[in-house]
Amino acid sequence: MTDSTTAPALPSADRLPDAQPVLRMVPMRSDANFHGDVFGGWIMAQVDIAGSLPAVSRANGRVATVAVTSFVFKQPVFVGDLVSFYAKVIATGRTSVTVAVEVYAERIRLDSEVVKVTEATLVYVATDESRQPRPLPDVTAPRVPPLDTLGE
Ligand SMILES: CC(C)(COP(=O)(O)OP(=O)(O)OC[C@H]1O[C@@H](n2cnc3c(N)ncnc32)[C@H](O)[C@@H]1OP(=O)(O)O)[C@@H](O)C(=O)NCCC(=O)NCCS
Repeated sequence: MTDSTTAPALPSADRLPDAQPVLRMVPMRSDANFHGDVFGGWIMAQVDIAGSLPAVSRANGRVATVAVTSFVFKQPVFVGDLVSFYAKVIATGRTSVTVAVEVYAERIRLDSEVVKVTEATLVYVATDESRQPRPLPDVTAPRVPPLDTLGE
């Protein structure tokens, strides 16, 4: 028999992944609406930067974002949250690198709550000096990514 006074089970708290985040940011008031909720566009911009980092590494140079194939805002982000971006290459083609990005927010308090806020998949294309697609280098090629080759 069901006890109608029993509270429904709360979803288990999220935990930060064991991997290193590629980016950590704290959104400010200027990144939010007047309710204090951070704009989706701010999160999308940071996700694009975060996803470009492993793409630049794999491409060993300049990349351009060609597509955002999925983007889900699962929970809101608030001003003052510590927001961590985790990104990894999940597929490669001749010139393209597909990257999965997961975003977690820590509601900073004595007992910080961790919430998974966003999941996204983006496709980057390795490009040459003329901004045309360039074949990905062999994974055994020397890797010397200069700092000025981040995704555009
Ligand atoms: C990125 C860019 C150089 C690619 O040029 P293109 O002529 O479309 O290149 P291609 O058709 O040869 O496609 C290149 C790769 O991208 C992939 N691709 C192209 N469009 C795609 C899409 N909508 N979704 C997923 N992958 C896509 C192709 O499958 C191909 O991958 P592969 O070589 O691994 O098989 C060009 O589209 C561009 O300059 N776009 C603007 C980039 C930009 O400014 N981004 C910032 C946002 S404003």
